[in-house]
Amino acid sequence: MMLGVETTGVDQTRALAASVAEVAGPGDIVLLVGELGAGKTAFAQGFAAGLGITEPVTSPTFTLVRTYTGRVRLHHVDVYRLENLQEALDLGLAEMVGEDAVTLVEWGDAVAPVLPRDFLEVRLAYGAGDNEDRRTVALRVVGRRWSARTEALGKALSEWAVA
Ligand SMILES: Nc1ncnc2c1ncn2[C@@H]1O[C@H](COP(=O)(O)OP(=O)(O)O)[C@@H](O)[C@H]1O
Ligand SMILES: [Mg+2]
Repeated sequence: MMLGVETTGVDQTRALAASVAEVAGPGDIVLLVGELGAGKTAFAQGFAAGLGITEPVTSPTFTLVRTYTGRVRLHHVDVYRLENLQEALDLGLAEMVGEDAVTLVEWGDAVAPVLPRDFLEVRLAYGAGDNEDRRTVALRVVGRRWSARTEALGKALSEWAVA
C-alpha cells in the first residue's frame, strides 16, 4: 500500500505526522527515509506531538537515540552516524523494538535488514519547482501490523491531498 501526499511547509509535515501517529501503537516501527533536510526530524516532531509528547523533540543525530513518554513511549533513533549494520546491532536497535514503545528511525532504510519486515516507511523528498518549502511524503506499508491498519491510516490522511 502506498499513499502519496504533498506538504508546502514544515508545519504541514508535522501535522501530517501527527495524523499518522493517531493510528500508531506500541510495537510499531516507522522508518523515515530521505536526504538531509528533507524533513525527517520535522516528521518525528509532529509524530511525537500526535503521541501526546509535550517535551521538545530534537534531532538525535549525535545521541543516536532519545526516548520520550506520551500516550505511548517513543524511541526516536537517528542512524546517520552509524557506519554499518553491526553498529546498529551494538546499539541494541533490534531489542529496542518492542511492545512498550513505537520506534521511529531516521535514515531507517539503512537498518531495515536488522529490523522485522513489518514497518511503515515514510519517504520524504524535496518537491518539484522553486518552492523550497515543498515536500513529497510517500507512505509505504510493509508487513502485517500496518497492513491491518491501512484503512485507518487512509482515514487519518484523508484530509491530505493525495498526490
Ligand atoms: N514541507 C516541509 N516539510 C518539512 N520540513 C520543511 C518543509 N519546508 C521547509 N522545511 C524545512 O526543512 C528542514 C527540515 O529539516 P529536518 O527535519 O531536520 O530534516 P532531516 O531530519 O530530514 O535532515 C527544516 O529546516 C524545515 O523547517
Ligand atoms: Mg534529522
